[in-house]
Amino acid sequence: MDIEVRPLGAADVDAADDVFRDAFSTVLGAGVHRDTELVRTRFRAQHTMTVGAFVDGEVAGSTIVTRWGSVGYLGPLSVRPKLWGQGIGTRLVGAAVDVLDGWGAGHQGLFTFAQSPQHHGFYQRFGFWPRFLTAIMSRPLTGAEPELGWRLSDVAPAHRPALVAGCAAVTDAIHPGLDVRGEIEAVLDQGLGDVVLIGEPDVPRGFAVCHAGPGTEAGSGVAYAKFAAVRPGPGAAQAFESLVAACQGYAAGAGAVRLTLGVNTARHEAYRQLLAAGFRTDSPGITMHRPNESGYDREDVRLLDDWR
Ligand SMILES: CC(C)(COP(=O)(O)OP(=O)(O)OC[C@H]1O[C@@H](n2cnc3c(N)ncnc32)[C@H](O)[C@@H]1OP(=O)(O)O)[C@@H](O)C(=O)NCCC(=O)NCCS
Repeated sequence: MDIEVRPLGAADVDAADDVFRDAFSTVLGAGVHRDTELVRTRFRAQHTMTVGAFVDGEVAGSTIVTRWGSVGYLGPLSVRPKLWGQGIGTRLVGAAVDVLDGWGAGHQGLFTFAQSPQHHGFYQRFGFWPRFLTAIMSRPLTGAEPELGWRLSDVAPAHRPALVAGCAAVTDAIHPGLDVRGEIEAVLDQGLGDVVLIGEPDVPRGFAVCHAGPGTEAGSGVAYAKFAAVRPGPGAAQAFESLVAACQGYAAGAGAVRLTLGVNTARHEAYRQLLAAGFRTDSPGITMHRPNESGYDREDVRLLDDWR
């Protein structure tokens, strides 16, 4: 079988989305993605690269590589089910690793099924090694959530760059070079949600990049804190509590009935604070790192992400 692997073009995105839904609903059940949107929105973003595999000119699979400054991850990875077991996934991961290496991402990773030794073995061949569980958690919203913090979309455009730079300073203080400005831009440019900020008006102490509603990574009735972090140091626990509460307020205001988020359980204090705040794990996945180093998964790091 002749497999061609190359960056996906705009004309291929619908087919890649179809393969993605087909592959994951085959393993996770029909309708798993509901009205969420992931392939198209990430394809449009500036900080990602989507790699496609083509068989006889048709999209047979794809994976998305995401750049967060010095950190990069791949996923989702999907191959048309009728073509499984013929080396397409292997070619895609190989290409994704080349992209990550080309970007100079010092800390690389992915999220996969915790209970699947096939997946672990598959990725281990490329130098990704299983680390801690990443818990996908959620909690219901009551509608009585307080309005806390402020939102980037409410800030005058002229003042946004300084605040966004402040967000990059927060992540850089956690892991040198970690930079999610691409996620912030994607949310604002594509109208996927908002960025919730806490702290001094000019200097954010913490921020959360949130998706909300259909056509985003959240889906109907849901808000999703795709990334959130607070600057480390004294008071970080209280700041994290405020940030999570601010996300709940944003989510309720956006009409969501549930707030979902992900946390690596190696960030033990953040995980415990989420449990105390009423979040419960819906599905545990596992994070794999290349090389096999902890990155920013440290006990006192108050950061939410899940690399799905
Ligand atoms: C996982 C997936 C991308 C693999 O794609 P593929 O084209 O079948 O992969 P390959 O043919 O290159 O197989 C590579 C290895 O993966 C493993 N593998 C194959 N099919 C698999 C499956 N359905 N589930 C788990 N592992 C599988 C095998 O161990 C294989 O090793 P081998 O070369 O010794 O046979 C594909 O099965 C898929 O789309 N699955 C559903 C979505 C998914 O699980 N995505 C990854 C989530 S992190």
